[in-house]
Amino acid sequence: MRMAIMVAMVVSMRGASGEEGLVLNYYKESCPRAEEIVKEKVQELYNKHGNTAVSWLRNLFHDCMVKSCDASLLLDSVGSVSSEKGSARSFGMRNFKYVNTIKDALEKECPKTVSCADIVALSAREGALMLGGPNVPMKTGRRDSRESEVDVVEQHIPNHNDSIPFVLSRFQSIGINTEGTVALLGAHSVGRVHCKNLVGRLYPEIDPSLDPNYAIYLKGRCPSPNPDPRSVAYARNDRVTPMILDNEYYKNVLAHKGLLLVDQQLISHPETAPFVEKMASDNEYFHGRFSTALLVLSENNPLTGDQGEVRVDCRLVNKDG
Ligand code: HEM
Ligand SMILES: *[C@@H]1O[C@H](CO)[C@@H](O)[C@H](O)[C@H]1NC(C)=O
Repeated sequence: MRMAIMVAMVVSMRGASGEEGLVLNYYKESCPRAEEIVKEKVQELYNKHGNTAVSWLRNLFHDCMVKSCDASLLLDSVGSVSSEKGSARSFGMRNFKYVNTIKDALEKECPKTVSCADIVALSAREGALMLGGPNVPMKTGRRDSRESEVDVVEQHIPNHNDSIPFVLSRFQSIGINTEGTVALLGAHSVGRVHCKNLVGRLYPEIDPSLDPNYAIYLKGRCPSPNPDPRSVAYARNDRVTPMILDNEYYKNVLAHKGLLLVDQQLISHPETAPFVEKMASDNEYFHGRFSTALLVLSENNPLTGDQGEVRVDCRLVNKDG
C-alpha cells in the first residue's frame, strides 16, 4: 500500500514537472538577477572580445539542434564523456572559456540554480542584441544533460556542402519550416569561415555559382588547395557589415558572394530562393523571421523539471549525481 502511494507520487511529480515546460523569466524567484547578470557579462565580454557575441549564436545552434537544448555541447572530454566540442562539425567554434565567466558570476549570486542550457539560450539572446539583431523573447527553465551526444552530432548538424533538401529536412525535423531555415542561416551574416570549408569551391575549378572577382579575393585569403588542418586562415562571412546581424547576408547570396556552398545554394533552389529575395529587401522582415525561428530552435526538446541537473561547472557533470 505504502509502496503504491510512493509510486503514484513519483509518477505525478514527473507529470507535473514535465508539464512545466519553459517559461519567461523562470528564475524570477530563485535568482531574480539571473537574466540581468547574463546581460551584464555578455556586454562586458563583447566590449573586450566582440566575437564572443558571434559564438553565442553558433552555440545555440550546435547545442539545440542535436537532440535537445541541454548544454551537452559544453561538456569536456573526461572519463566516459566524449566532447561534442571535439567533433568535426564543431570546427572553428571558439570562446567556450567565456561561458565559464558567465556561469561563475551566476554561481556567485545563486549557487546551483541557473542551468548551463539556459546560459546558452540567454547568451544567444543577448549576443543577437549586441550584434544589432532582434530582441528574442527567450524562455528559460532548461536543465542540463549528464551525457554528451557526440555520436549523433553529424546526423543533426548539416555539413557546409550538404544539399538544400537535406538541410531543410534536418530543420523540419525540429519544427522549423523553409522560411525559418532561410532566416536562421542569416546568422552567417556575422563571423568567419576557415579555408578548409571554402577550398572545395575554389580548387581545382572555381565553383561557377561564385562571383569571379569574389573568387579571386577568396583565393587570396585561401591560397592553398589543401590547407593545413591547423591553419587559422579564414574569410569573413560578410565583408560589408561583418559584425552586424543584418540582411546583408542575403544581398551577398544574391550577388553570388555566399561563402559556404549551403549559403550560395539558397538561391538555386525554388523553395528557398523567394525567401532570400524577401529577406534581402527587408531587414525588419528578416529580423522577425529570425527571432521566431531562433525561439523554436531554442525550445527543441529541453530537459525540464527534475530531468537532468543544473551543472555547477558547464564543462563537467556534477559529481554528486
Ligand atoms: C545548414 C546549416 C548550417 C551549416 C551547414 C553551417 C555551417 C557553418 C560552418 C562550416 C561555419 C564555419 C566554421 C569555420 O570554418 O570556422 C559556420 C559558422 C557559423 N555559423 Fe553556421 N551553419 C549552419 C547554420 C547555422 C545556424 C542556424 C546558426 C545560428 C543560428 C549558425 C551560426 C554560425 C555562426 C555565428 C558562425 C560564425 C562562427 C564564428 O565566426 O566563430 N550557423 N557555420
Ligand atoms: C563535402 O565536404 C567534405 C569535407 O568537408 C568532403 O569530405 C565531402 O566529400 C564533400 N561532399 C560533397 C558532396 O562534395
